[in-house]
Amino acid sequence: MKVNKFILLLLAFCCIGQINAQSINIIPEPINVTIGKGVYQLPKTIAINAPSSAKEVTDQITKQVSKATGRNVTLSKNDASITLEILKFEVLGSEGYTLNVNANGIVIGANTNAGLFYGWQTLQQIMPAAIFAKSTQPNTQWQLPYVSIMDKPRFAWRGLMLDVSRHFFTKAEVKRYIDDMVRYKYNVLHLHLTDDQGWRIEIKSMPKLTEVGAWRPERKGKWANTKAPALDEPKSYGGFYTHEDIKELVAYAKSKFVEIVPEIDVPGHSMAMLAAYPELSTVPTNKFSVNIGQEFIDWEGMNGHITAKIENTLNPASEKVYTALDKIFGEVAELFPSSYIHMGGDECPKNNWEKSSDVMDLMKRENLQNQQEVQSYFVKRVEKIINSKGKKLMGWDEILEGGLPGNAAVMSWRGMKGGIEAAKQNHKVVMSPNDYTYIDYYQGEVTAEGKVYQGLRLNRTYQFEPLPEGVDPTMILGGQANLWTEQVQDIRNAEYMTYPRALAVAESVWSPKEKKNWDKFVGKVEQHFEKLDAAEIKYSKSMYDAIVTTKLNTKGELLVSVASEISGLSFYYSLDESLPDNYSNVYSNTFVLPEDVSILRVIGYRDGKQIGKMLSIPMESLKSRAKRVL
Ligand code: ACM
Repeated sequence: MKVNKFILLLLAFCCIGQINAQSINIIPEPINVTIGKGVYQLPKTIAINAPSSAKEVTDQITKQVSKATGRNVTLSKNDASITLEILKFEVLGSEGYTLNVNANGIVIGANTNAGLFYGWQTLQQIMPAAIFAKSTQPNTQWQLPYVSIMDKPRFAWRGLMLDVSRHFFTKAEVKRYIDDMVRYKYNVLHLHLTDDQGWRIEIKSMPKLTEVGAWRPERKGKWANTKAPALDEPKSYGGFYTHEDIKELVAYAKSKFVEIVPEIDVPGHSMAMLAAYPELSTVPTNKFSVNIGQEFIDWEGMNGHITAKIENTLNPASEKVYTALDKIFGEVAELFPSSYIHMGGDECPKNNWEKSSDVMDLMKRENLQNQQEVQSYFVKRVEKIINSKGKKLMGWDEILEGGLPGNAAVMSWRGMKGGIEAAKQNHKVVMSPNDYTYIDYYQGEVTAEGKVYQGLRLNRTYQFEPLPEGVDPTMILGGQANLWTEQVQDIRNAEYMTYPRALAVAESVWSPKEKKNWDKFVGKVEQHFEKLDAAEIKYSKSMYDAIVTTKLNTKGELLVSVASEISGLSFYYSLDESLPDNYSNVYSNTFVLPEDVSILRVIGYRDGKQIGKMLSIPMESLKSRAKRVL
């Protein structure tokens, strides 16, 4: 009997230990977490005690807890399981929170509703994954570990950018994207609303922008490889947000403490606008059409001159352009409460400006020495317009060329260089360097993922550090990951590209630098896969796949090396087209690929179980990735 009791006690202790070990997997990592001994069990009826000023957070907690648990959730000051408290605790700032779970229940404290909301996000992460479910999960043990947490963000700007131009995402899909991002404490959604492939926001004073600019013939399949449209081909693909849609999205985002920052990308990336209003170009034609994904820029000289084979820029010398932009930014400023409006400014080809007599006259009149100064003249005019609407201008780092206007903020995308330069000039900066935070880039083996410009793995993304050494921290607003959608055609794929890399960026912009730890992060990501499954969010498991590189030796033989993004994996491979398993060749060292191999198949295992997907890499790809002779 005594022994049985002891075993029961031991079992109970192990169970508690298990809950503790499994449940504290918070992303982004908080400032301070102290795990207690014990577990709190949610009761059959769950009472929430919260001030009426926190209604918008309380409503969201009530809705999710009652949906996932199927239990009755009431508002009550007595016997509360969940208490929300507004504090006056200066150190927490405007977004920080405390979270305590013990035998008396759950208490979230914060100075603001935003802080309470982030405390709620953390609370969900220490609950069973079923809390994220879209339907009731009756078989769940609704227990959570005793814990005490103090937390607040490192940066104020924690952004994700969604390109809704290249592919259109409906209002419901944008809301879903917001629902997902706030779980990881992002607070800025940058909407890239206009580009060559579609104008996505109603401008009442310029109706053709959406009547014409929002629609194009439909293409499926690989981007930049699309057939040119026939003259009479129906323009069946597209969409846009009306003023009412935007108001609804802004209000929805606000209820989740997200600010939507709109981008109208000018003077380049404007083919959809020219399709609607061709008179705004330097090129005398009315034959513009919304681009459907054909290549139209010669990218040679990416960091200097790029050349438009089909024109896509506005005429910087035309007053009609500034009148149009005044109308557009006027309506945009009315719709979005954000203090910044993003004007794009990136990748503007100048080959048609160089030939334009309008631009030449402008250069003489304004004493502009080159096309960079012409672009700078354009940006300064746009800044005046944006400022006149009570807003501040933000642009991609190209707006540095030819001189930054007065108060402009810079979003640094061609690495961090532009951001560092802008900060030195006392301009505010958001860091979104393509080599760390471009989540449209493929995230694993290229032949398995589909090629998108270049690759960016989770471990590289995790190294993103928004504050470079020697830069004044007060100039760095924060960081952002950008999801361009040339190759992203639907919301499921948008999620796949976003997760788990957005988890890595979330730690870079929220957590203290010294709290970041790659191995710990990987363990947490694995736990979050369960949460993402429960929330029905698609994500990539590419971190379990082999990283295959090749080199040519002096004999002309191809040497193959296999590396791993995370520790603890074994890789098995075949050279004879058969499907490998854990009885096949195990990779231990670089090997010479026999000449007659047509395909290398390789697969990741952990603890005797397949964990990665099978990669099948054709010989041509293995040859083409051999970079140098040994
Ligand atoms: C950009 O990626 N062109 C900002």
